[in-house]
Amino acid sequence: MATVFVPGSFDPMHLGHLDVVDQALEIFGSVVVGVLHNPSKPSGLFTPDERVELARATVEGRPGVTVGAFSGLAVQAAAEAGATVIVKGLRTMGDFDIEQQMAQNNVALTGVRTVFVPCRPDRAHISSRFIREISANGVSVAHMVVPAVAEALNRRHAAGGGS
Ligand code: PNS
Repeated sequence: MATVFVPGSFDPMHLGHLDVVDQALEIFGSVVVGVLHNPSKPSGLFTPDERVELARATVEGRPGVTVGAFSGLAVQAAAEAGATVIVKGLRTMGDFDIEQQMAQNNVALTGVRTVFVPCRPDRAHISSRFIREISANGVSVAHMVVPAVAEALNRRHAAGGGS
């Protein structure tokens, strides 16, 4: 068994992310989900603490999975989490282009390896960005997230939160 690190901005965590966590859990046995800052996404709908709370609700019932907020680089966070491998899900070739570059940087920085898992085809269309956009317009995303996340999105938009 190895502990692996699944990083992301998770704004919010959705069922596509959960599939990646489940695959990592099945293969490696122990998973740390890390809420991290993505410099290309400066502002978010949920705060880091809220994202952790919603990610915990999403992975509920999986004793091999923990969730935390981390700062700095993914390689620093992985080391802090005691993880020897980073696991990322791939939806499209667009994902692969950037993920491959990050994986190559990460192994060059600290030697930490990245393992890619293909996302489930029936969840390939799910993204946090589209979830924020769809829910901001009052349309249900209940098929893409766990109920706690759907409720949090409804509350946030009812309170005037942006997309
Ligand atoms: O869910 P996202 O937004 O695709 O996740 C991207 C994330 C947060 C994993 C990525 O931006 C990241 O690793 N950020 C931490 C800073 C870092 O390590 N950058 C890469 C340097 S090669």
